[in-house]
Amino acid sequence: MRMMVVVTALLPRTTGFSAAAVRTTARKHARRCVTARAERVGKPKAMYRPTSPSYPLTEMDEPRALSGLPDRSRPFTVLGIETSCDDTAAAIVRSDGTIVAEAIMPQHEVHAKFGGVVPSLAKEAHQEAIEAVVAQVLQRAGLESARELDAISATVGPGLEICLRVGARKAAQLASDFELPFVGCHHLEGHCLVARLAEPCRFPFLSLCVSGGHSMIVKCEGVGRYQVLGGTLDDALGEAYDKAARMLGLDMKGGGGPELERVAREGNPTSVPLPVPMKKRKDCDFSYAGLKTALKLQIEKKRHDAGLVDEEEPLPDQDVADLAASFQHVAITHLEDRLAYAFDRVRADDAFQSDQGRPQLALVGGVASNAEVRRRVSLLCDRAGWDLVVPPPKLCTDNGVMIAWAAIEKLHLGFSDAIDDEVYPRWPFRPPASVAAPALP
Ligand code: KG4
Ligand code: ZN
Repeated sequence: MRMMVVVTALLPRTTGFSAAAVRTTARKHARRCVTARAERVGKPKAMYRPTSPSYPLTEMDEPRALSGLPDRSRPFTVLGIETSCDDTAAAIVRSDGTIVAEAIMPQHEVHAKFGGVVPSLAKEAHQEAIEAVVAQVLQRAGLESARELDAISATVGPGLEICLRVGARKAAQLASDFELPFVGCHHLEGHCLVARLAEPCRFPFLSLCVSGGHSMIVKCEGVGRYQVLGGTLDDALGEAYDKAARMLGLDMKGGGGPELERVAREGNPTSVPLPVPMKKRKDCDFSYAGLKTALKLQIEKKRHDAGLVDEEEPLPDQDVADLAASFQHVAITHLEDRLAYAFDRVRADDAFQSDQGRPQLALVGGVASNAEVRRRVSLLCDRAGWDLVVPPPKLCTDNGVMIAWAAIEKLHLGFSDAIDDEVYPRWPFRPPASVAAPALP
């Protein structure tokens, strides 16, 4: 057990005030700030949070509980709110890993007829849904009000600024009204850490996080201690799935990725020649823009071969299925290539070669809910001698559980944030330069 001194950073050590008095004053101040902000018209441009999450980068760093801590001598319950993109989600999770209740209001239908997520529509949908989603999760947990919770958390970055604000404001208000500890979570940290809720997953582990906004391989050394080994150079994998689905004329109402996966089951994955991205580049970065363009050309070729001139006239179903299956096949081959480099890169790292078992890879993010992605990554892990940890599909796509759980991990270590509804749309998931991973030769 790591010993850590829990301090309330708001407590001036030289004054005679009690910690409780200082916390109460701070909460009153926070409540005023939240209300004032909510009333302010035209907020200043969103802040850029310059470093990775604000908790330990070394085991020596002192935890800071800026809005207090729950009683950690017994299981405590945390509400997590997620509104960073196009899902309004909330969940109540207990610190022993029990998911007490979940609620989610997805927005696929709102955005289906546009070329992607429309931020203003997403914000409106979050605003319409947030009260109902939070009320629903409390009711499902059998709680009369948020007063019965032990802490509140929300995603505060990265994501769409005006969407993040809806969840962050609601969470800050609840924390302030009921004088509860507040934790502002990093969205990608939520994706990565939820692997530890689903199955035993010990630090350090590698995480392949594939979502609508990111494809990245992260070395997770501890809570708040992450090294990005490689990331998205252009389109993220989920974004590529969505664009491919749209180009193929698929129904986007349930989400492009899931629909492409469904259609691909009927197709031949090696029938359409598509190039595997970055074959010559020996690193862990991802690029899907070229594959998307190659798919577009193959769609045009098939249309031409079939003599289709009218844009409204669809390709035969089998052609669509073959194109979808071939796209998915190559997209996953690119994942496999990058993972193989990542495995090589940590091969000499003693921490991954412990006697506690094989090294572990967590597959997380929305695309990790795809059965073919799970199957192929699992085979690769078997061949390489790695164990694969994959959360159940509903914990891969955006959800409130991952945010509540990330908060629980931080609270366990003695961290909480000041009650504040500030958000960080461009919050990088990278350590300061001094501890960044060395570049590959
Ligand atoms: O993590 P997530 O829910 O939200 C972001 O953080 O972006 O990921 C959403 C992305 C979308 O692009 C969606 O199309 C993709 O994940 N996705 C899938 C599947 N389910 C969701 N992609 C492929 N196959 C799926 N079954
Ligand atoms: Zn996500």
